[in-house]
Amino acid sequence: MSHFYFALTNPEVEQLLKKELSVSHPNFKLSYSRPGFLTFKAESASAFSPWMARISGHCFGKKTIVELEALPKAWLWKRDDSFTPPESLSRLSDNSLFKIGEKVTLIMMVGENEYWLGEYILKKTHFQTPGEVSSIEKKEVPSRAYYKIAEAYEAFDLPMDFEEKVLELGSAPGGASLFLLDQELKVFGVDPADMDRSILAKRNFKHIKKPFENLNAENFQEDIDWIVSDVNLPPSVVIKEVERFLTFLEPRGLVLTLKINQDRYLRMLKPIVESFKKKGFTQVELKYLPSHRQEIALIALR
Ligand SMILES: C[S@@+](CC[C@H](N)C(=O)[O-])C[C@H]1O[C@@H](n2cnc3c(N)ncnc32)[C@H](O)[C@@H]1O
Repeated sequence: MSHFYFALTNPEVEQLLKKELSVSHPNFKLSYSRPGFLTFKAESASAFSPWMARISGHCFGKKTIVELEALPKAWLWKRDDSFTPPESLSRLSDNSLFKIGEKVTLIMMVGENEYWLGEYILKKTHFQTPGEVSSIEKKEVPSRAYYKIAEAYEAFDLPMDFEEKVLELGSAPGGASLFLLDQELKVFGVDPADMDRSILAKRNFKHIKKPFENLNAENFQEDIDWIVSDVNLPPSVVIKEVERFLTFLEPRGLVLTLKINQDRYLRMLKPIVESFKKKGFTQVELKYLPSHRQEIALIALR
């Protein structure tokens, strides 16, 4: 018997997702796909939770509106915001609540008149939105990194407390700093590049305008509670530097954006997760966030 699976991801990482699956699920064959929506066929059932997907699960194929209207509850995701589903399906989605641990029935509106049905288990780190789209309100911010950290904060319910100190590696121009400062944290932003003026003006922000390689234990008079990083360097370089900081700092958590712009970087992810677990972080997770492109978030909490 054939089994079908779906994955929703951002178009920038579809090739990477396929590469990932060619290694992790070599028996999966790409079936029907449209930008952002991919289905796979396998001859045997297996757990399916690829890193480079916002969400993934079992796929039950194409359905008619009449079949979908008969569902007791379901969320509706649209592949394109401009699609206009029938009122009945929008209402069904608006009235459907799913609890953590429950199976979400997901209607995927793939075209103007094309609906697919899927199912996945709602995890604590999932957003309560159909298709795992961002629930962060759009506003004027110095960079996209604002949304990346905001989404990680929400998905992992990051326990960041008032005036805790964050060491931010690669902080310019300041999207992530803005979000962290808005949460009333103190931010030490390390970046040789210029910060946005609005960030420099904030009382709780200090710019260390140099490469992070130049910092060592003597530069830190205060304890650091969090290390946040979003640097355009290979994951191996970022991890090596974070590990160096961990020899003299003891943050309670790490929020690292790892750039996965080459498929060979995918192979590094599992060993990275394992190595942070060995360093005393009890929760270490990877999550492809809605605002990600060729990158993934690594969250490590003590
Ligand atoms: C994607 S941007 C960071 C975005 C930023 N987190 C924000 O919120 O706006 C990557 C940054 O990494 C910085 N970077 C690259 N190499 C670095 C290094 N060795 N030390 C510190 N920053 C570095 C770059 O200057 C660049 O500003």
